[in-house]
Amino acid sequence: MYKIAVLPGDGIGPEIVPEAVKVLEAVSRRVGIEFQFTEALVGGAAIDARGIALPPETLELCRQSDAVLLGAVGGPKWDTLPPAERPETAALLPLRKELGLYANLRPAFLYDSLVEASPLKKEIVTGTDLIIVRELTGGLYFGAKKREQTAEGEMAYDTMYYTRSEIERIVRLAFTIARQRRCHLTSVDKANVLTTSRLWRDTVEDIKGEFPEVTVEHMYVDNCAMQLVRRPAQFDVIVTENTFGDILSDQASVLTGSIGMLPSASIGGAVALYEPCHGSAPDIAGQQKANPLATILSAAMMLKYSFKMDQAAAAIEAAVGRVLAKGYRTPDLYVPGTQLVGTAEMGQLVRRE
Ligand code: NAI
Ligand code: MG
Repeated sequence: MYKIAVLPGDGIGPEIVPEAVKVLEAVSRRVGIEFQFTEALVGGAAIDARGIALPPETLELCRQSDAVLLGAVGGPKWDTLPPAERPETAALLPLRKELGLYANLRPAFLYDSLVEASPLKKEIVTGTDLIIVRELTGGLYFGAKKREQTAEGEMAYDTMYYTRSEIERIVRLAFTIARQRRCHLTSVDKANVLTTSRLWRDTVEDIKGEFPEVTVEHMYVDNCAMQLVRRPAQFDVIVTENTFGDILSDQASVLTGSIGMLPSASIGGAVALYEPCHGSAPDIAGQQKANPLATILSAAMMLKYSFKMDQAAAAIEAAVGRVLAKGYRTPDLYVPGTQLVGTAEMGQLVRRE
């Protein structure tokens, strides 16, 4: 039996998360492994009900679970709060930090039938199958920061800070993932200008001997941004620091047709967190327009990375592929000639496959 903490959050979260839970229930019936789901408040929903974005009982539930499934947090309703109290900063960052989730895995895989949904040309996007391994608990987002008045006027700084051991653990994880895929690792940095990047590059060089079957390439982040839209099929596994990974993974999302297709896993601690890459999409919330596939594919990643149920994970991915091949599309993926469906209907179609 596995215990799964379910945190729907805000906006489209309460629409998409139940679809993923029902897919996991279907898997559970099929393979005879029991999942126990417990729901808890997070983000704006928690601010409204409890006055705090990450209530202690939610954190405690996550700690005592085997995995966490999260929807998304945030929305205009809470935008007027001071930055430190907002759902994203006050719930997501501490949740990742508290659970020790130093690695964010974001696969960008283009389903054949979605080639037309990508804004990029078919010849360019065909063959996209990459995974970005982003460092998640260090770098600019967590370094010392300040904004103040000085004699010369207002000033502000953020600090990019990395220790060798922080780099080592994420790089080793990326090598391990590359070894299970097509054995090619691209380490992305800005070593021509940043000192942290030079430490990053040296660390990769020192570790690569442990993984002789993996070929390694170093790439500057600006070039990587260009290569992602020029020739995405050249990439297998990309490993990079927190800020670069944040930006590159949103960019990579375009390759797959819609941000509504992109799952993620945050791992490294005793409990891992699975969530779609997108936010709470307040513009379409409550209208059954949201694509639940990113969340359903995040549940598949949970089966793979937390429960070692690789076959069940592959079965979900294949079911998603068949539903798309039959022409069913949520509005974000719609092109003329396809069949428009809502959030719950899409979830049901995947479960039927
Ligand atoms: P967003 O990802 O919520 O939305 C961007 C665009 O993509 C919108 O047009 C939205 O309708 C569309 N979209 C997103 N997910 C979709 C889905 N599953 N199906 C169909 N269309 C989808 O990003 P945005 O608008 O910048 O942020 C909205 C709120 O979400 C903000 O409060 C933001 O802070 C928060 N946010 C939360 C995240 C999280 O919980 N991990 C991540 C990113 C943003
Ligand atoms: Mg982002």
